[in-house]
Amino acid sequence: MNSRVLGAAALAVAVLLLYGNACRAPQSAAAAPAASPAPVAVELPEAITAACPARATNDEPAPRPSEPTWRVRNPHLTWQRDPATTVSFTWTTDAANTQSYQPRAIVAPASAACGTGERLFAVGRTTAGQGEVLVTRVGGDRIPVPAWTVEVTGLQPETDYVARVGSWTEVAGKRPRLANISELLHFRTGAPKGSRAPFQVVLAGDSRGGSPEIRRQAERLAAIPAVAWFFNGDMTPRGSQDEWNDWFTAMAPILRRRPLMPVQGNHELQSELYYSQFALPVEPGLAAQLTEHAWSLDLGNVHFVGLDSNTGEGIARQVPWLRGNLAKAQADPQIDYTICMMHHAPWSASAHGSHEGIQATWGPLFDQYGVDLVFSGHDHNYERTIALQGGKAAPPGQGVVYVVAGGFFAPGYPNGHEWFTATSTHGDQHNYVVLNVTDQALTLAAYSGDGGRVLDQFTLPRPPR
Ligand SMILES: [Fe+2]
Ligand SMILES: [Fe+2]
Repeated sequence: MNSRVLGAAALAVAVLLLYGNACRAPQSAAAAPAASPAPVAVELPEAITAACPARATNDEPAPRPSEPTWRVRNPHLTWQRDPATTVSFTWTTDAANTQSYQPRAIVAPASAACGTGERLFAVGRTTAGQGEVLVTRVGGDRIPVPAWTVEVTGLQPETDYVARVGSWTEVAGKRPRLANISELLHFRTGAPKGSRAPFQVVLAGDSRGGSPEIRRQAERLAAIPAVAWFFNGDMTPRGSQDEWNDWFTAMAPILRRRPLMPVQGNHELQSELYYSQFALPVEPGLAAQLTEHAWSLDLGNVHFVGLDSNTGEGIARQVPWLRGNLAKAQADPQIDYTICMMHHAPWSASAHGSHEGIQATWGPLFDQYGVDLVFSGHDHNYERTIALQGGKAAPPGQGVVYVVAGGFFAPGYPNGHEWFTATSTHGDQHNYVVLNVTDQALTLAAYSGDGGRVLDQFTLPRPPR
């Protein structure tokens, strides 16, 4: 939440088709009749069944009737730093009485929580956060939007946690007013950097609102055992706070359980509201005005990079930082794969087509520094390219694969085919991608929005170390 702050308030604060390492050409199962989808386990780490310890006895309501009611809206999780040991919570409240708001998060290992989670306050550790009241214009009105972030550090890797966020005054033996705290949130910390343990993430983009279809699918999607989601933009139609509230509400089953790392789409027109509501990594060496516009994090053996593709000037200004960031990842023996995400597709055969500015500006960096996969949206369909290098088909064992998956329930677009197309699917089926990471390969499966069809499956063997 780096954006323009116009007022400030409270503070306390594999399917490994091992080709050996010689060939990087993606192995596709797209042409075959849709095999049964890769099994997606439905196993949430949130069954809080541990017996309540005797010390968890603070379940009497705190007697503070004069305390205002601050409903927690849109609580969700991101990472600003190490996914293995930190997490950041962000939420909004109504504008009234925020001068005394004390944003806090309480976190406990899921194994230590008990009962319904209300006793979480007896067993968890509380962290204070910070916030800002952003004043935005909607039509002629100035609308205050208080947004709050708490970053919790010192967590254990690969551990299931539960949490609540809100505002309360610490009173020994008393819990906060339930009206002022969130429902129970769940998350799992990532594997430590360099770990080569398998994990899964979801890649998606382009919802353009909290549609009824998202609401129908969200519980099922939240059960995909992914450690995180990566979202390539166009969450809302125009980015007003009402639209954000709608999107966050529709996505809540996912956002209560999975950190979601976004990039800004062209539909997030009121970008200050986007940047105020997502707490993202602050990158050394990136121009201050671009803070949170570009970010990176290491999850296990994967280096993920988020980029802002919305303006030509911004694309150019990210180059020095991006060059250094990708070079560092390439030289890092703990990193096996690099994945970049942005809203506009460098290569697309469909409605919007390829973004030649990105091809010319970032494309050489993707080639030079061994980026494995570039993930975009903007075109509301699904496409995957052959491995490309220097704007041409790459020699065997080299190149970057570009995936367009802009079908997270926004209206679908027709799809196209070009010389660089490996596979292409009409957007009327919607889509999302499940990425499995192992020591040996990246394996991607693109699904129809309802999960009933496999649109594409392919494997990228790990490049030689
Ligand atoms: Fe879009
Ligand atoms: Fe777009």
